[in-house]
Amino acid sequence: MTLNLEVWEDRDALYNRALEIFSSELKNGATTFGLATGGTTIPLYEKMRNSSLDFSHCTSVNLDEYVGIPQGHSQSYYTFMQQHLFEAKPFNTTYIPNGEAENVDAEAKRYEDLLKSLTVDMQLLGVGVNGHIGFNEPGTSFQSETDVVELTVSTRSANARFFDTMDEVPKQAITMGIASIMRANYILLIAVGEEKRPAIEALIKGDITEDIPVTRLCNHPNVIVLTDLKISKDQ
Ligand code: F6R
Repeated sequence: MTLNLEVWEDRDALYNRALEIFSSELKNGATTFGLATGGTTIPLYEKMRNSSLDFSHCTSVNLDEYVGIPQGHSQSYYTFMQQHLFEAKPFNTTYIPNGEAENVDAEAKRYEDLLKSLTVDMQLLGVGVNGHIGFNEPGTSFQSETDVVELTVSTRSANARFFDTMDEVPKQAITMGIASIMRANYILLIAVGEEKRPAIEALIKGDITEDIPVTRLCNHPNVIVLTDLKISKDQ
């Protein structure tokens, strides 16, 4: 397994390391970045905003977007990316699925075709408490491509903190599939917080199963995992 695990108990140091990885990718000529949203990414995007990194010649392609809330909604991933990164650090081109499309299935297909026309140099990932990557919930086929998916109660509950009531949390999303994510040349996965331990332990153990989507990364040739969990590679 070529999975590279780095444990950083100090979260600030962990995010400095993540910033350094973006910086060296840029220096090495990376121009297309797969991006994620969620609480995990906020400290990294803050560091990126305050850095001298220049993405103005780059392309970004986001993992996912909710279906059923307008793009301008405070919790859409479109708004998240504008607020946390793009307004301060513009990219030349940014792509994010359109969760407001009249035909969301056609939109998912369009997004997958777009992805296939790009080479993602580096993909940033967080991981769900249930091991999801993107919004690929447990049980999703490792062969999945971009699609419209139902969100589990676990994921909706985890994201309820961003909405006023549970009813407002969207029930569907458009997400890159697991196979789509695996096409990236390099993957940076960040997992912070005890609630992510079961998913990360399964990944490190190499118990590859569709029940824990993140374990698919064991089959990727070039992955780095940054975590603040005290965890050993030999467990
Ligand atoms: C976000 C995404 C999700 C999150 C995951 C973790 O674009 O695709 O897989 O990375 O749900 O979310 P946080 O970081 O909020 O714990």
